[in-house]
Parts: sequence; C-alpha cells; structure tokens
Amino acid sequence: VRITSSPRFTKWSMYVKLMMFLFLGSNICTSREVRNCKECLLIHPTCAWCSQEGGSSLSRCDLRDSLIQSGCGVKFIDKAADYPVDLYYLMDMTNTMKDDLQKLYTLGNDLTSALRVVTSNLRMGFGAFVEKPLSPYMYIYPEEVIRNPCYKFPKPCPPQFGYRNVLSLTEQVEREETKVSRNRDTPEGGFDAIMQAVVCKDKIGWRPDASHLLIFTSDDRSHLALNARLAGIVQPHDGECHINNNNEYDKSTILGYPSLGMITDKLSENNINLIFAVTKAVVPLCRNYSELIPGSEVGTLSRDSVNVVQLILDAYAKIRSKVELELLGVPDELSLFINTTCLDGEVIAGVRSSAGLKIGDMVRLKWECKC
Ligand SMILES: *[C@@H]1O[C@H](CO)[C@@H](O)[C@H](O)[C@H]1NC(C)=O
Ligand SMILES: *[C@@H]1O[C@H](CO)[C@@H](O)[C@H](O)[C@H]1NC(C)=O
Repeated sequence: VRITSSPRFTKWSMYVKLMMFLFLGSNICTSREVRNCKECLLIHPTCAWCSQEGGSSLSRCDLRDSLIQSGCGVKFIDKAADYPVDLYYLMDMTNTMKDDLQKLYTLGNDLTSALRVVTSNLRMGFGAFVEKPLSPYMYIYPEEVIRNPCYKFPKPCPPQFGYRNVLSLTEQVEREETKVSRNRDTPEGGFDAIMQAVVCKDKIGWRPDASHLLIFTSDDRSHLALNARLAGIVQPHDGECHINNNNEYDKSTILGYPSLGMITDKLSENNINLIFAVTKAVVPLCRNYSELIPGSEVGTLSRDSVNVVQLILDAYAKIRSKVELELLGVPDELSLFINTTCLDGEVIAGVRSSAGLKIGDMVRLKWECKC
C-alpha cells in the first residue's frame, strides 16, 4: 500500500492493508506508477500531469519543468493546487492568559505568512473559551461579579462563558477584539471547547479535503468528564454539536465535560490533528494526553506566547512526517502483534508508528494475527 505524504491522519482497515511503504525516488513524481491525473497530483504538490497523449517513453506524471522539457505543451499541464490546510485556534480567555492575548492580535498575519511556505491554501479560524459559567467555576457573589467578573479591578471584563466560536474558518483573517474574562477555580473548560470545535463541522467550516489542525492554547489544566459533578451536573456529554445562533456553546451548564476517550474518538472520526500549545507547567500532563490521542502533538508555549508560530510549524512538520497505524474495530478475540521497521532498519517490536520521516523514506509494518 502506498501512502502519499498526506498530513491527514490516515485510517487503515487492518483486514485490507497488510503492509505500508513510504517510498519516493529522486523524482517523487515519476517513482510511482500512477494511472491518471488525480493519482499523480496526490503524490506531492510539485507533481504535474500532462493531459496530452504522449509517446511511450514519456512519463505523464512528472515535475512541471521535466514535462515541458520532454515536450508536453504548457497548456496540457495540470498542476495540483496547494494542499489545503485548515487551522482553528482555540484561545484560553481566562485572565491568566491576558499577556498572550495582546500578542495574539497579530497572530493571524504572522501565521499566514509563516504557513505560506507550507501552503497558500490556508484557512484560519478562532475560538475562545473560559469555563462553565456556573458556581463553583465562577464567582457568583456579590451579584455584580456575574456581569463583570473583574469588578474589583480597575478594568472591567465581560461575563464568563464556556466556549464561543469567534471566527469560523476563512481566508480573510481580520483582527478580532475578544476580551478576556476571569474564572474562579484554576483548571479551565478547554475540553468543552475542543469537543465543540471538533464536532461542529459546519459551524467551524472544516473543509472535507483539507488537513485539519486544531491548536489548543492554555496555561492550565482542563476539567475532564465527571469533574462537573462538583457543580451539580450529572448528565454526561453526548458528543454532539451545541453551538447556537450566537456562536456560543449553549449546553455548557447542562452537560458534563467530555472524557478523553470521547475526544479521541471524535478527533479521529473527523480527521483532526490536535496540537497542545501549552505553558511549561502543563506540558507533562498534555504529553500524557497526547500519548493517548493519535495524531496529536505538544509544544511548549512561552509565557508571552511569542513562540506560538514556530510551535505550530514544528508540530505541523512532525504530524506530516509521521506514519501511524490506527486499528479500528478489532474484535476482542483477535490478538495482534505488530513490528515496525523505521529509517535505520531497526525493528521495533510492538510499535505502530514511525516519526521523523522525509519524502523518500520507507517504513515497513509487519503484523501477525492470532485468534
Ligand atoms: C504522566 O505519566 C507518567 C507515567 O504514567 C506519570 O508518572 C506522570 O505522573 C504523569 N504526569 C502527569 C502530569 O500526570
Ligand atoms: C516481531 O519481533 C519479534 C522480536 O524481534 C519477533 O519475535 C516476532 O516474530 C516479530 N513479529 C512479526 C509479526 O514480525
């Protein structure tokens, strides 16, 4: 089975695919046996297809310049558009992230120029989260604090909210003035936000054929399933989209936080790569989460978030250079033994992924099934 260097997390049905090769020659376009234009353009953004019926020796899938040299008329050359990338940025809007927010205003432009190296077909969107607007996650006394959680401070701030979709995915990223709010206990309602950003496909505007990056920024832990019992919420999360017409998550005070398992399933179902961009103190915890969430990455956000663009580029590169096998619907009675042969030819027993790959590398996965 050949795999193209698609950044999307690839799902393989174990019954059909027995081996994976990632191999590309010195010219990646000609090294594959492709039969049509679509297959050719899928190989790599640099490949082009000659739609002119050519001589026998002419490879119709090649680099654009090579095609011209070998006599294909320019008007017959089809070239792939850049591989589309959707990037949705979830911002922690609690007061503790205030410094970062100032910098985030310029983020849209910075990210667009940085990611232009990777793709010119980029869409970006923003979402914001604080925490369930409910005691004990929120101050409720005196009454004034509900309308203005910062009433004791010189500058007022807007009422607490769970999650809000600030800007759906778009090519035009405008400066959005979103104000920080303030919540009471320290862990944040980030997982509620992740869940909605993942399952509300239409509201967020994820494109079916793009690679999907969900950037999660925070400087604290997030509440998990069952935590909401503290606030008297007993109904578990239903895994559905609940963004209302005001672009707000309107079941914040009704449904509990999603579990890590549910988040993992939904991310995988919707082909979304989660990138934790979190401050140092939370990195070890997010690394642990990341091990359980296939296709996710963790980066350390500096206190003032200046490094966030580099962090996203690094994480994206890692995601693109990793091959990971996900097993779906494996019956309990079946035991699987998988060995992976990575770059250095070393066989790693029991591992299903290989990282640090470049175009041209080969990975071999071997497995044995026992009933
Ligand atoms: C992460 O996992 C390791 C190994 O299971 C554990 O020792 C460590 O305490 C965990 N870290 C956090 C912050 O939960
Ligand atoms: C995986 O590697 C182990 C140890 O090297 C070996 O005993 C086993 O047969 C291998 N399994 C497969 C499916 O290649």
